Amino acid sequence: MSNYHIKHFEEYFQIYRKSVRDPESFWSEVAEEHFLWQKRWDNVLEWDFKKPEVKWFSNAKLNITQNCIDRHLQTKAERTALIFEPNDPNEAAQHITFRKLHEEVGKFANVLKEQGIQKGDRVCIYLPMIPDLVYSTLACARIGAIHSVVFAGFSAKALATRINDSECKMVITSDGGYRGEKTIDLKGIVDTSLETCPSVEKVLVAKRINSEISMKEGRDLWLAPLIDKASPDCPIEVMDAEDPLFILYTSGSTGKPKGMVHTTAGYMVYTAYTFKNVFQYREGDIFWCTADIGWITGHSYIVYGPLLNGATTVLFEGIPSYPDFGRFWQVIEKHKVTQFYTAPTAIRTLAKENLSYLDNHDLSSLKILGSVGEPINEEAWHWYNDNVGKKKSPIVDTWWQTETGGIMISPIAFSTPTKPTYATLPLPGVQVALMDEKGEEIKGNQVDGRLCIKFPWPSMARTIWGDHERYRTTYFDTFENKYFTGDGALRDEVGYYRITGRVDDIIIVSGHNLGTAPIEDAINEHPAVAESAIVGYPHDIKGNALYGFIILKEVGESRIHDNLRKEINQLITEHVGPIAKLDKIQFTVGLPKTRSGKIMRRILRKIACKDLTNMGDTSTLLNPEVVQSIIDTAL
Ligand code: PRX
Repeated sequence: MSNYHIKHFEEYFQIYRKSVRDPESFWSEVAEEHFLWQKRWDNVLEWDFKKPEVKWFSNAKLNITQNCIDRHLQTKAERTALIFEPNDPNEAAQHITFRKLHEEVGKFANVLKEQGIQKGDRVCIYLPMIPDLVYSTLACARIGAIHSVVFAGFSAKALATRINDSECKMVITSDGGYRGEKTIDLKGIVDTSLETCPSVEKVLVAKRINSEISMKEGRDLWLAPLIDKASPDCPIEVMDAEDPLFILYTSGSTGKPKGMVHTTAGYMVYTAYTFKNVFQYREGDIFWCTADIGWITGHSYIVYGPLLNGATTVLFEGIPSYPDFGRFWQVIEKHKVTQFYTAPTAIRTLAKENLSYLDNHDLSSLKILGSVGEPINEEAWHWYNDNVGKKKSPIVDTWWQTETGGIMISPIAFSTPTKPTYATLPLPGVQVALMDEKGEEIKGNQVDGRLCIKFPWPSMARTIWGDHERYRTTYFDTFENKYFTGDGALRDEVGYYRITGRVDDIIIVSGHNLGTAPIEDAINEHPAVAESAIVGYPHDIKGNALYGFIILKEVGESRIHDNLRKEINQLITEHVGPIAKLDKIQFTVGLPKTRSGKIMRRILRKIACKDLTNMGDTSTLLNPEVVQSIIDTAL
């Protein structure tokens, strides 16, 4: 029995038990069998959740790009590594072989070096979903620079916050990007953000939409002529197992976004392992994850996980609705996709459309369907299963987080019997605990609680960039000796897990993780606003939508209110990005507060959800009378 590839349910249990009984020999066997190391590790695992400190494969030396690319050149140089499917279906797709990927990453890496980037430097990548995004990410990893990919839908201010937090030396962007019928002025956004980013010395600009942009002398350089001149041979930088591979920002309940730091060896081993098993990857499969590389899903299951396994991975620039709602199905048919991995929001959006969009396409290549990013509701699960999978492709509902680096709780396709809305069972190496509010672990089945992980897994984030104390308090302080996920979950009668959602002030809108604090800060910038509070409420397509309760400095008329609503959403777009716009804005005279001045969001959440049955204990409120007035004017 190979630890690396689980083939049936019994085997899952055996391997799972082994991974818990002896995690070190389990992971060292996986690591030894399937990867290239420049030097073997001294210890498999050193850990202390109190500090917290976790080290996997300590003192091992490696380079992840050698494992993603070079290693495959002997056997599959001419095999397609990357299929680039452009936004416009009339533009030809590109099939990029492992040989070509090796050359392009080598050239890009040499350009980075020529432009002064060295091991340990931070490079911000703000690009649309084009091959340069994959090349630049891997080029950083090749030379030991730490990539910080920022989703190209974030605003100039959000980009600047992320660049400044990790003091990036360079930004890699493009003249613009396509998004359906629209174009997005990425270089303009970068220019605005760099007005407040003193650490950035160079900007490399890829050409994608051929727009007129301004180039700042001494700072901005077109990428193409540099790549043309560069050598395709770039030796790997030998990295330590625990050297940072990348920083990826995720929202926090409070304060600025958290730069989650992922390190090299553990991330490599775990993303490769989970990709292989959850999606039952076999030679010849065509894997398509529709996420953006600006999110962890794209890092782990468009770039690293598939390439580490020598798989063909699809890079899709477009959106599900352009040129029409058949676009996903057309791409599956065109490239004969075997595994399709998307988010519940996309499924719900497409389920609303006419079935003829689906029926016009041959989806018979599909073997496995995946879901990620938010709870999948029963209706969406069945629609996906019946219409896309034709009831023969298992759905893997994969629960995980930016912080976990890879999939944690999920069925293993064809092994684990699926159950709608359940992420089912933890993967090998993942030791789950449900905790009660008193901090005790809840044993047994048919229980619910706060979801924690009680033992390290290889791809866990090691810290928050520049703020280890915040890492400790956010994840390791709530429950002693455990990593707290921030999610609630229930365990059913057979031990399957269902994720019930966030138990903190993070709201997941269309699969995007949004913290309330930066949105409230943006709203409070408006001169007419005194105070605000944001909560989520259920939405048919987005999963959750945002509801803002806003106190104005002066009460105005409704005509003015309409303008204010627009201006407030405009501010949010500028500070955070359009994904964080409010669907409902209620102007109110007060907000329910505790005596210590904390807003009681629980009450606001109930009002936003129109659930007025049991408002709970309001006696501790400083201003209980305000609750009724908010209810009376609720939208
Ligand atoms: O609440 C959980 C939800 O998404 C959160 C993590 O968001 P992010 O770091 O952006 O990573 C998303 C992609 C991995 C989790 O804390 N979540 C993610 N997957 C699921 C989920 N909720 C329910 N079911 C899932 N399959």
